[in-house]
Amino acid sequence: MAQDNLFEPIEMGAQTLKNRIFMAPLTRLRAIEPGDVPTALAGEYYSQRASAGLVITEATQVSFQGKGYAGAPGVHTQDQTTAWKSIVDNVHAKGGKIVVQLWHTGLVSHKSVQPEGRAPISASDVKVAVRTSLRDSDDLAIRVDTTPPRAATLAEIKQVIADFALATKQAKEAGFDGVEVHGAHGYLLHQFWVEQTNQRDDEYGGSRENRARLMLDVIDACVEAWDADHVGIRVSPQGTFNGVEAGYEEDDNIWLIEKINDRGLMYLHLSEPDWAGGTPYTDGFRQRIRDAFGNMIVAAGGYTAEKAEKNIEAGYIDAVAFGRDYIANPDLVERIREGAELNEQHPETFYGGGTEGYTDYPFLAEK
Ligand SMILES: Cc1cc2nc3c(=O)[nH]c(=O)nc-3n(C[C@H](O)[C@H](O)[C@H](O)COP(=O)(O)O)c2cc1C
Repeated sequence: MAQDNLFEPIEMGAQTLKNRIFMAPLTRLRAIEPGDVPTALAGEYYSQRASAGLVITEATQVSFQGKGYAGAPGVHTQDQTTAWKSIVDNVHAKGGKIVVQLWHTGLVSHKSVQPEGRAPISASDVKVAVRTSLRDSDDLAIRVDTTPPRAATLAEIKQVIADFALATKQAKEAGFDGVEVHGAHGYLLHQFWVEQTNQRDDEYGGSRENRARLMLDVIDACVEAWDADHVGIRVSPQGTFNGVEAGYEEDDNIWLIEKINDRGLMYLHLSEPDWAGGTPYTDGFRQRIRDAFGNMIVAAGGYTAEKAEKNIEAGYIDAVAFGRDYIANPDLVERIREGAELNEQHPETFYGGGTEGYTDYPFLAEK
C-alpha cells in the first residue's frame, strides 16, 4: 500500500510537523532518584528518534505527589527543567519536535514514593486492584501492588490544577514544543471522570459535568499557563486500563471530547484499547470522534503503517503514534518509508535499567 499520507506534513497549532509518524509516550523508568531528574542518556534516546514527526515524552510528574512509579521523571523542579532543556536541545538539533506528557498518577502509586509516605490521592478512597513499579536494592524495576488511596480534599484538587500549570510553565522554559495532558489510562484525571473511582458529592463528583471538571480545569490552567496552540490531551475512551473501567456510554465520551474541543487544543490523542485486550473502535465511533473534534487527531494502540494509512485516508485521524515499535526502532520513519524489517523487541528491558534496550537498538545502516 502506498504510504503517502504518513509523509505529508501536518499543522500542530501554529507549528508544522514534518510527517505523521509520532513517537508515543513511553514510560521507561530510568530517571535519577532522589529528585526524579531525567538522565543525559535520555537525551541520546530521544534524539535517536528525532525523525518522528513528533516525539511525545514518557509520562512526567507535575509534582512529587503526582508520582506513582520509581524512576519516572518530573518537570516541576529547576533541576528537572534544566535536564529536560538539554534533552529538548538534542532533539531540536536533529530537526525534531518534542512535547512532554504531564501526569499525576493518583491511585496508581505507592506510599513509599509519596511525600512523607502518605496515602496517594484519588477522587475517592476506592481501592483498585492494580500494580505499580518500584526499585529493588539493585535499582531494578519490580512490580508491586499499589497502596490504598484517600480522597483528595478540595484544597488538594486546587493544588493539582496549579501543579499542572506550573509544570506547563517549566516545560515552556525547557524549550518543549508543547505539553500533552495525560487524561487517559486510569490515572488521576481519568479516576475523576469514571464513576467507579469517583464517589464524591461535591462539584468534582456526581454528574458528568462534575466528573469532567478536574480534567477541564487542568486543561484551562495549562492553556492559561501557555496557550491552546501548545496544549494537547491524551484520552482513552472505551478502554479499561490500570483496573479503571471504561464503564460508560460512547455518548459520554463524545460529550467530553466536545468539551475538550471547545478549548481549541492543538491535538486530541486517542489511546485505543485493542493493544490492551479491549474492543476495537467501530468506524461509527471513529466518525463521531472526528465530528466532535476540529483540530489534529492522533491515534495509538496496535497500529501498523497500513492501518495508519487506512484510517488517515478515511479521514478518521490525522497522525499515528507508535509505542513498542518506537522503543525497538529509533529510525522507524526510515523503516516505514523503505518497507524495511523492524527490530525484535525486548520487553524485559522496557522498564528500568541502563543503555540496554534503551539506546542500543540498531539503526538500519548498522545492520
Ligand atoms: C513500555 C510502555 C510504556 C508506556 N508508557 C506510557 C506512558 O508513559 N504514557 C502513556 O500515555 N502511554 C504509555 N504507554 C502506552 C503507549 O503510549 C501506547 O499507547 C501503547 O504502547 C500502544 O501502542 P503500540 O501498539 O504502538 O505499542 C506505554 C506502553 C508501553 C509498552
